Amino acid sequence: MLSNQDNELVTRTNPGTPMGDLLRRYWVPALLSEEIPAPDCPPARVKLLGEDLVAFRDTRGRIGLIGERCAHRGTSLFFGRNEECGLRCVYHGWKYDTEGNVVDTPAEPAGSDYHKKLRHTAYPTHESNGIIYAYLGPRELMPIFPNYEWTQVPLEFTYVTKGLLECNYLQGLEGECDSSHLSFLHRSFTNERNQALYKSDTAPFYETEDTDFGVRLIATRNAADNQHYVRSSAFVMPVYGCVPAGRPTNELEGYEIHTYVPADDTRCWRYDIGFRRDRAVRDDEVHRRKQIKSDYTRIRNARNNYLQDRQMQKTVNFTGIEDFLNHDACATESMGAIFDRSKEHLGVSDKAVIAVRKFLLSAVKELQDGKEPPHLVRDAQRNWFPHVDCFAYLLPRNVTWRQHFDYLTESALKENPASFAARQKAAS
Ligand code: FES
Ligand SMILES: [Fe+2]
Repeated sequence: MLSNQDNELVTRTNPGTPMGDLLRRYWVPALLSEEIPAPDCPPARVKLLGEDLVAFRDTRGRIGLIGERCAHRGTSLFFGRNEECGLRCVYHGWKYDTEGNVVDTPAEPAGSDYHKKLRHTAYPTHESNGIIYAYLGPRELMPIFPNYEWTQVPLEFTYVTKGLLECNYLQGLEGECDSSHLSFLHRSFTNERNQALYKSDTAPFYETEDTDFGVRLIATRNAADNQHYVRSSAFVMPVYGCVPAGRPTNELEGYEIHTYVPADDTRCWRYDIGFRRDRAVRDDEVHRRKQIKSDYTRIRNARNNYLQDRQMQKTVNFTGIEDFLNHDACATESMGAIFDRSKEHLGVSDKAVIAVRKFLLSAVKELQDGKEPPHLVRDAQRNWFPHVDCFAYLLPRNVTWRQHFDYLTESALKENPASFAARQKAAS
């Protein structure tokens, strides 16, 4: 459980809050590339960390992420004209470039230099494989954009979906650090592999280890034929849950990254990113897409009870609800907008959740004491993270995951990329 004070500390992310300050020190997903697909296309609203923003792609393809309310008298720039390298307010024609400079104030007298004294909110962005990331912190402290493995493979080797989760970001994130719910919430009665791996041992043995990027989470279940089934996931600062998903067991061909970025304190954006190391993604692998509407809300939501089917619950799966995405939403949204963790009763199965909370709380408290947060990239030579790797693997009972996946150490990063990749391949 958490004290009320720590619960408030770790869940509130609006400007000026300690956790808001921490999250603002990292690059986080702000929107999908598809929301502003072409130069001079219509702008998109972006709700992020309690801030109202507008994103646009200017005539030269540069991306602007600026405050939604016009600096003049506050009209929403979402309705603006995106033209000639700037976004122009529909009320009196003030125009903004991607850096937040006011470049034209046509309602002011000719020759006025009033606009030169103004500077509008504008944040740096970085576009990578279908996602536009943003940095909302102090400019002078901006870290290098991290070259995660999923940002380094060709675009067609990746997929991404975005959906609104109607609860605090931490409820979503904690679900990624909780392997035991796979045996229940996501259990299928019709998929034999799912039954064999998750039903036979519903109380996995957990290990956690703090790393340079966050926390590695390992859940081990007993399996048939004198084997054990090991699932290794990763919590990556500040809001990434990396999980083995969408591929057969014992193939290390990529993994999924589930990201929970606060929109405000009671809603967050779940970005699911998947990648393959050496092949293009097939359309049928992105089953989640059909659960999400064009405004990025889900078809199945709290207002329609996730379209739960009680007959399906008897015969098809544990919840009677379609798709993992909706299972997770049902479990985490139904806790309430911001769950009061002083009311919970944690068990042994919550070891990984506890480790991740501890990591976040210690980072936010250290930042309050003036210490640099963990996992900010400052050294371009050390900007690669293959050891975030996740896997779901059946191993002989007498082989530990540490023995088999001996490349998953920080010291392995001192090797060159080719030898690292060779050791990774050898393990698969
Ligand atoms: S309110 Fe935007 S130009 Fe006047
Ligand atoms: Fe889940």
